[in-house]
Amino acid sequence: MSLKFLSLFACISLAFALPQAPVSEGNGYNISILSPTSDIPGTTPPTTGSPTSAATTASSTGATNSPTPTFVAGKTTVEDLWAQTEKYSPVLVAAKSNLTHSTKFDLPPNPPTYLPSYLSENTKGLKFPKGFRYGVASAATQVEGAAKEDGKGPSVWDYGTHVYPDLYLGAPDVTDDFYHRYVNDFARLKAMGVNTFSLSLSWTRIYPLGSGQVNEAGLAFYDKVIDEAIKNDIQPIVTLFHWDTPLALSAQYGSFMSMNITDDFNQYAETAFRRYGDRVKVWITFNEPRVFCSQTAGNPYNLNFPSGINATTAPYHCTHNLLVAHGKAVKTYRHLVKEGTIKAGQIAFKGDDNKPTPWSNQPEDIEASNRHADFFIGIFAKPVYIDGDYPTTCKETLGSFLPELTPEEQKLIKGSADFYAQDLYRINTAKAAPNGIKACVGNVTDPNWPACQDGRVEYSSGAPGGWGYGQQADPRSNWLVNSWFAIREQLKYLSKTYPTKGGLYISEFGWAEAFENQRTEQYQIVSDYGRETYYRDYLNEFLLSIHQDGVDLRGVFAWSLYDNFEWGLGLTQKFGLQYVNFTDPALPRHFKRSFYAMRDIMQHHLQPEDFNK
Ligand code: NOJ
Repeated sequence: MSLKFLSLFACISLAFALPQAPVSEGNGYNISILSPTSDIPGTTPPTTGSPTSAATTASSTGATNSPTPTFVAGKTTVEDLWAQTEKYSPVLVAAKSNLTHSTKFDLPPNPPTYLPSYLSENTKGLKFPKGFRYGVASAATQVEGAAKEDGKGPSVWDYGTHVYPDLYLGAPDVTDDFYHRYVNDFARLKAMGVNTFSLSLSWTRIYPLGSGQVNEAGLAFYDKVIDEAIKNDIQPIVTLFHWDTPLALSAQYGSFMSMNITDDFNQYAETAFRRYGDRVKVWITFNEPRVFCSQTAGNPYNLNFPSGINATTAPYHCTHNLLVAHGKAVKTYRHLVKEGTIKAGQIAFKGDDNKPTPWSNQPEDIEASNRHADFFIGIFAKPVYIDGDYPTTCKETLGSFLPELTPEEQKLIKGSADFYAQDLYRINTAKAAPNGIKACVGNVTDPNWPACQDGRVEYSSGAPGGWGYGQQADPRSNWLVNSWFAIREQLKYLSKTYPTKGGLYISEFGWAEAFENQRTEQYQIVSDYGRETYYRDYLNEFLLSIHQDGVDLRGVFAWSLYDNFEWGLGLTQKFGLQYVNFTDPALPRHFKRSFYAMRDIMQHHLQPEDFNK
């Protein structure tokens, strides 16, 4: 399947929010593949629902959907924003649970053997280095629920899923109810032996309006979560922003489409550093900025665009502003460490995607792969890790669409990361745009513009009809292939291109088991043979990468601890190591085969002191 169509789809609708059509990772596959044609929905003014107050600085030129949220500075309250959100449907709350919080969880016996052994012959006995971080990853909107509880303000995801329900397969109101069940959840994780938990904070739990008044109850919640993790010998890694933009900041100035976001983000980041910096040693500013910015063309991020910005240009303004926001937050962090206010730790952002395997040895296909890497990884990584500026390919192709980084901004951004983190789910293939790269670069209406490569999940090898490039995941995550065979090359590429003293982390990897959502019996659901194979294959390659290629890999985090709110696909797309029965109000969790596989493999390969017993 050609990813070209996916990218086009991502441009013209709402990136990954629409469930019916093919979607891409986290879904807006191609930030940079936005075609600047004027017929893209989102570039025309809404017919109704424009902000009514002059105090609302952001115009709503971005949203074809209406209504857009409104905000009057000094007047609009959190309650008003929730009222706007709930005008169409109420925010649901979790059923009261009579769950007794267990602090210890014994795993039921192992499932029947599937693979001859969890352990592969070529890595038997090999160990991950001392201090290796073995963990699972999550994100606030995807697991917490309690959307309105204890003073939390709405994010654009709360608003979008309620006001435009037809665009989504559900809202994140309750999801896994981690908010009330984290004690049990950590006990279960301990049974998997993990030593790290990667979570994100909800900005609007801490600042319900994105800025201004801080919400002590929100801060206190994460105190409890962090303490509980540590009590279980699980080190928390904290991400500040995993896509849950405060609705108030969207309505006020268009959030990441405006430079105003950088100060508000910095204030929020500083609050978090000061509060948790005594216990949290590893910080992530932004999750997958490339995917995030690609989605600004569509709902729920296009609710309010500042004037002069539309769906075509929004992703690039987002790219620029987000990089500056990252730079400012890192500066603040380092300052707080230097003055001794908080303990020394490390900070970075986490990128996504991959440098694809070229379709052939033809120079044009090799160039296509390089361009893909520039537009999907380098556009954020090069400024941060190399020299403060975007890759030349991006600057030359995008021209005035991509706001320049000033010399001061470049100085701020260059070197603003202590380690390199990549969400690495899969490797794709890339071939040159059908009309040739040169013709595509000069033609903004080319569907492959601006990367001018055609990303695919197949390769030809001369066979009629070609072959899939690895086992495919669920068709609704059709970007995802088990491409274990290309992992080592990828890790070599990443660590060579963006070397850091702090090493490399695979901050997310995971699998959407094919048709898992259609399985009806519990024994079928937890029998996730494809996911088990995926984790075994990848962990094996990670070990070889360390031992045979000398890659400085320091940790790997599986996505995800359990099934959760997969954005536009709601609760229907499963990435969990644990099954959560969302039809039962008690939201029971059940271990899947992959949970056991991870535990057994890591118990064998970790240094004994790094396996959490
Ligand atoms: C990466 C994103 O960070 C996460 O939010 C998403 O659920 C997974 N990809 C799976 O699509």
